[in-house]
Amino acid sequence: MKQICVVGVGYVGLVTGACFADLGNRVIALDVDEKRIANLNNGIMPIYEPGLEELVKRNVKAGRLTFTTSYADALKGAEFAFIAVGTPEGVDGAADLQYVEVAARSLAQHMTAPLIVINKSTVPIGTGDWVADIVKSAQPKPIDFAVVSCPEFLREGSAIADFMSPHRNVIGSLDKDAANKVAQLHLPLRAPIVITDLRTAEMIKYASNAFLAAKISFINELADVCEAYGADVKEVAAGMGYDARIGRYFLDAGLGWGGSCFPKDVQALAFMAKQKGLNPRILNDVVDVNYDRRRDVPKQVEQLLGGNLKGKTVGMLGLAFKENTDDMRDAPSVDISNALIAAGAKVRAYDPVAREAAASHMPAVEIVADVYEMAKGCDALVVVTPWNEFKQIDLEKVKGLLKSPVIYDGRNIYDPARMYEMGFTYRAIGRPSKNGRG
Ligand code: UGA
Repeated sequence: MKQICVVGVGYVGLVTGACFADLGNRVIALDVDEKRIANLNNGIMPIYEPGLEELVKRNVKAGRLTFTTSYADALKGAEFAFIAVGTPEGVDGAADLQYVEVAARSLAQHMTAPLIVINKSTVPIGTGDWVADIVKSAQPKPIDFAVVSCPEFLREGSAIADFMSPHRNVIGSLDKDAANKVAQLHLPLRAPIVITDLRTAEMIKYASNAFLAAKISFINELADVCEAYGADVKEVAAGMGYDARIGRYFLDAGLGWGGSCFPKDVQALAFMAKQKGLNPRILNDVVDVNYDRRRDVPKQVEQLLGGNLKGKTVGMLGLAFKENTDDMRDAPSVDISNALIAAGAKVRAYDPVAREAAASHMPAVEIVADVYEMAKGCDALVVVTPWNEFKQIDLEKVKGLLKSPVIYDGRNIYDPARMYEMGFTYRAIGRPSKNGRG
């Protein structure tokens, strides 16, 4: 059993803390947000993440996980301190490091024994060295410490499974002893451990996210070519995916990527390249291709309706940036609803969990609590988030409720042949149209 302090109880911090506690460690999770900590102490989660509530409650009950707002309490007896605070996108796409700075400074001011400071947040290359400088200069008296980069690779919606069964863990530090101690913490996860230097570890995180985003933008560009030639992008992706060099993951064509990670990380990597006088052409295109898809939705719906959107009601199936989360950060639904409204449509929407979170992002959208209520009287539907619930809805019933049976399937969740058979005017992304050819 090791004693660990985790700074920040957002997605990354809370999942990391709860999972390390579940592995038998003693974890004290800290946040400066008093309400969040009070809520956690009352069993109320700050986010929706499948399995998290049970995991937190189980470990709190076992006495392995506690919450505090006090750095002094959090550091008492701690050998490791994870920094897992937000790094939002700042001006020009650069990552905003103010929360990392406060965390590093506060750790330095309150540590009373040697400490390994581990950075989990996604931070620009060189931040680990900067954190080391901050800790050194903010310590009231010199105490041994090391800074290690250990980037997170958790996906919202499957964060616990991703933590417990990782593809790899990356540990970056020039301090071999500290790196080995952090490696020991991860041994129970039985995954490959990459030990490298700080900057390389930081880069592995950006490179991984940018590559995954590029994979999605690639398949989305290819989807248009498939559609133009009557090929089916879903089957193309499946066929490509059997090649282990390519892999099937992250080849789902659709309305593209959003969320709290890919948008800011691709921009931040491009920004870092530009700062060094480089021209990151691929990264720039990865971003453009992605956002074009959202902008294109009103045109696509108009084509299906055979007329413009003025006075029409469009229903959105899904609001969260992806399924199994209530996260609305850079959710395609926001841009899409704005674009539909700008084109003259009224927009109604339904999401199984993100209704509350979405409300402030789209005041002009009528968000309802039932998928069939949403469909009632709509001229067209757009599938925005691929929730499982939508795959199972009673399409006959939906068809009966719609003013006209039009569906733009932005996540390719339905079978085109079946939709045509049922009499829908249906369009998917990168899949053959009714007569089989583009
Ligand atoms: C992503 C990475 O997958 C994680 O490894 C990483 O740790 C995390 O960012 C982070 O940096 O914190 P996340 O943003 O939670 O995780 O979600 P993903 O499942 O990766 O999906 C990202 C976006 O891509 C979503 O909008 C999703 O709808 C979209 N997507 C994903 C596609 O459009 N097609 C696909 O084939 C896969």
